[in-house]
Amino acid sequence: MHLSRSLLGSLLLFPLASLSEPVTINVDVNTSLGPYVPTYRFFGADEPNYAYYPDGQALLQQLGSLGNQTYFRTHNLLTTGPGFPSLKFGSTNAYTESADGQPIYNWTIVDRIFDAYLDAGVKPYVEVGFMPLALSSHPYPYFFNFTPESPYNVIYTGWSYPPTSYTKWGELVYQWARHEVERYGEEEVNSWYWEIWNEPNIQYWNGTVDGFYTLHDYAVAGVKRALPSARVGGAEVAGGASGSYLGDFLNHVLNGTNYATNETGTPLDFVSFHAKGSPTYVNDSAASGGGFVRMGIAAQLQNIDSAFEVIASYPTVKDKPIVIGEDDPDGCAACVTPQYGYRNGMLYPSYNAAAFVRAMDLSLKYGVNLQGTLTWAFEYDDHPYFDGLRVLSTNQVDKPILNVHRMFGKINGERVQANSTGQLQLESVIENGINGSKTDTGALATFNQTTNTLYTFVWHYHDDDLPKPDSQVSVNISGLPGAIAGNCTARLTHYRIDNAHSNSYQKWLQLGSPQSPTAEQYAELKEAGILRTLQGSEGMTDVKIDNGAANIEFALPIHGTSLLVLEM
Ligand SMILES: *[C@@H]1O[C@H](CO)[C@@H](O)[C@H](O)[C@H]1NC(C)=O
Ligand SMILES: *[C@@H]1O[C@H](CO)[C@@H](O)[C@H](O)[C@H]1NC(C)=O
Ligand SMILES: *[C@@H]1O[C@H](CO)[C@@H](O)[C@H](O)[C@H]1NC(C)=O
Ligand SMILES: *[C@@H]1O[C@H](CO)[C@@H](O)[C@H](O)[C@H]1NC(C)=O
Ligand SMILES: *[C@@H]1O[C@H](CO)[C@@H](O)[C@H](O)[C@H]1NC(C)=O
Ligand SMILES: *[C@@H]1O[C@H](CO)[C@@H](O)[C@H](O)[C@H]1NC(C)=O
Ligand SMILES: *[C@@H]1O[C@H](CO)[C@@H](O)[C@H](O)[C@H]1NC(C)=O
Ligand SMILES: *[C@@H]1O[C@H](CO)[C@@H](O)[C@H](O)[C@H]1NC(C)=O
Ligand SMILES: *[C@@H]1O[C@H](CO)[C@@H](O)[C@H](O)[C@H]1NC(C)=O
Ligand SMILES: *[C@@H]1O[C@H](CO)[C@@H](O)[C@H](O)[C@H]1NC(C)=O
Ligand SMILES: *[C@@H]1O[C@H](CO)[C@@H](O)[C@H](O)[C@H]1NC(C)=O
Ligand SMILES: *[C@@H]1O[C@H](CO)[C@@H](O)[C@H](O)[C@H]1NC(C)=O
Repeated sequence: MHLSRSLLGSLLLFPLASLSEPVTINVDVNTSLGPYVPTYRFFGADEPNYAYYPDGQALLQQLGSLGNQTYFRTHNLLTTGPGFPSLKFGSTNAYTESADGQPIYNWTIVDRIFDAYLDAGVKPYVEVGFMPLALSSHPYPYFFNFTPESPYNVIYTGWSYPPTSYTKWGELVYQWARHEVERYGEEEVNSWYWEIWNEPNIQYWNGTVDGFYTLHDYAVAGVKRALPSARVGGAEVAGGASGSYLGDFLNHVLNGTNYATNETGTPLDFVSFHAKGSPTYVNDSAASGGGFVRMGIAAQLQNIDSAFEVIASYPTVKDKPIVIGEDDPDGCAACVTPQYGYRNGMLYPSYNAAAFVRAMDLSLKYGVNLQGTLTWAFEYDDHPYFDGLRVLSTNQVDKPILNVHRMFGKINGERVQANSTGQLQLESVIENGINGSKTDTGALATFNQTTNTLYTFVWHYHDDDLPKPDSQVSVNISGLPGAIAGNCTARLTHYRIDNAHSNSYQKWLQLGSPQSPTAEQYAELKEAGILRTLQGSEGMTDVKIDNGAANIEFALPIHGTSLLVLEM
C-alpha cells in the first residue's frame, strides 16, 4: 500500500501529538534552599491616574489581597497636567510656579493616588518624577497623544529634561516627602520605597550622566531631610547592568562626591534595574493565522544575569535588597503589535512562572538579595475587552496573568529542593531561551513547618505559542519531617491555570468575543477570572503519605500552571 508523504506524516504526527512527555519532579522537603521570597507582589504602570478610576480601584483591591504586602510603582507622579488618564501619560499638577517664579505645591491628585493604593492595602514604591513643566529646562512640547500604534519616541517631551534649578528640584522632593510623613505618619512612610526617575540611561532622561547623578542626589537629600529613615535606592536602569551604567552608578553612590551635599557618597538602601524579554512574531504559513508569537525569555534573563553579576561584585552592595523595578516579557505595555499577542491567555502566566523562578535561582547563584520582580502592567478604564494591551484585568474581569500572581501569593515557608527532569538548565535558558525541541516543565517547592504545608508550583512553558504534548507529571515527595513522616492522609488542593480553569479569555472566546456582554455573560466572565482548582466543586482530594513519602500525578498542558497545596 502506498501512502503519500503528507498522509504518512500526519499518521506519524497524530500519535506523537497526543502522547504525553513523562516528567518526574523530586521534591526533597529535607533540603532547604532558604526562605521563599515573595517577589511577585510588585506592580506598576506608566499611568498614575487610573488608580482612582473604578476599574483601577477594583484591581488595586485584588492586588492588595494577593498574600504578602503589595507595592505599586508609577511614572508621572510629578508630571504637570489636570490628572486625566491617557496612554503612557498621567499628571498631578503637584508643582507649578507663580508669575514671579515662586513654587506652588498642590498634593491633591498625588493624595488621591496614594489614598487609592493604601485603601486597597497596597503601598507606594515611589518613583520621583517626572519634571514638572514649570521646572523643565526644555518645557515644550510637553503634552502628547500616544496610541497603541504610535512610535514609542513620541513620548519624550519636556518632562524628560533636567530642571532649571536643582535647588528648586531638591526642595520640591523635600516638600513632597514631608507632606507624605504629615499625611500618613513616619511609620507608614518608612515602609515605602523611594527611587529617583526611570531608566535614566535611555531617553527618559534627556541630560548627561552627571546631570542624572545631580538629579538623584538632590532628590535623595530631599527625601532624607524629610525622613532620615526613609528607604531610598535606584537607579531603575533599563537593560540590566546596561554596560557600565549600573556599575558607574554604584561607584557614584558609594564613593563619588554627592552633588547635593559635597559629602562622599549617597545613601543607598536597595538596588533596582529593569529586565525585558524580546518576543517576535514568526511568519509561518503552516500555522493557523499565518504565524505565531515566539517569546524571548532569554533576553530578560540576560538582563538579570548581567545586573546580578555587577551587584555581586560590590561587597557592600551584595546583601542589599534588589527590586527588578520592571520585569516583563516585552518593553511596552500600551503598545499593540503581532508579537505582543501573548498577553490574554496562558502564555503570559506560564512565562512569568518560568521567568520569576529563574530570577530567584539567579539570586541564589550570585548570592544576592532579590526581593521583587515587578510586573509593569495594570489596567485601562474604558478600553475594549481583551484589547491586547499588557494589563492584569479588562473591564474588571481578571485575566489569566493575575492568577499566576495569586498562585505565587499563596506560597509561603522555606524553599526546598525540587528537581524536575523536565526543567531546562538555567545557563541554557539564559543563552538559548526555550524555543527548541524541548519544553520546560519546571518547579518550585516550599514547606511551611508551622502549618505542615507543602507548596509545589509547576509550569509547562515554551517560547512558541504553538500546540505541544502535555507533560505527564509525577511529583515524588520525600524527606517529610519526623512528626508527619509516618503513614497518614494529607489533603491536596490543586490550583490550575489552563484553557478550562482560571481563564476568562477562553470563556470570552467561547461566548463569541462579546464587546458588550449581557449581564449574564459578564457574570460568567467575572467568575472565569477567579483562580480555580482542578477538583472544582469537589474541593480537596486525599493523598496518602507512606513512610514520609508521597506521589502525585497529573497531566499539565503546554502553557499550563499548577499549584499543589498539600496540607498534612
Ligand atoms: C512577607 O515577605 C517578607 C519579605 O520577604 C517576609 O519577611 C515575611 O515573612 C512574609 N510574610 C509572609 C506571611 O509570608
Ligand atoms: C489643587 O489641585 C486640585 C486638583 O487639581 C484643584 O482642584 C485645587 O483647586 C488646587 N488647589 C489650589 C489651592 O489651587
Ligand atoms: C534630547 O532632546 C533633543 C531634542 O530636544 C533630541 O535631539 C535628543 O536626541 C535628545 N537626547 C536624548 C538623550 O534623548
Ligand atoms: C573611590 O574612588 C577613588 C577615586 O576615584 C578610588 O581610588 C578608590 O579606589 C575608590 N574606592 C572604592 C571603595 O571604590
Ligand atoms: C559644595 O561645594 C561647592 C563648591 O565648592 C559650593 O559652592 C557649595 O555651596 C557646596 N554645597 C554644600 C551643600 O556644601
Ligand atoms: C510577517 O508578515 C507580515 C505581512 O504578512 C509582515 O508585515 C511582517 O513584517 C512579517 N514579519 C516578519 C518577522 O517577517
Ligand atoms: C507559615 O504559615 C503561617 C500561617 O499562615 C504564617 O504565619 C507564617 O509566616 C508561615 N511561615 C513562613 C516561614 O512563611
Ligand atoms: C537537585 O539539583 C541540585 C542542583 O542542580 C543538585 O545539586 C542536586 O544534587 C539535585 N538533587 C537530586 C536529588 O537530584
Ligand atoms: C531562540 O532564542 C535564542 C535566545 O534568545 C535566540 O538566540 C535564537 O535565535 C532563538 N531561536 C529561534 C529559532 O528563534
Ligand atoms: C522518588 O524519591 C525517592 C527519594 O528521593 C527516590 O529514591 C526515588 O528514586 C524517586 N523516584 C523517582 C521515580 O525518581
Ligand atoms: C534530614 O536530613 C538530615 C541531615 O542530612 C538527616 O539526618 C535526617 O534524617 C533527614 N530527615 C529526613 C526526615 O529525611
Ligand atoms: C507505614 O505503612 C507501611 C505499610 O504500608 C509499614 O510498613 C510502615 O511500618 C508504616 N510506617 C509507620 C511509620 O507507621
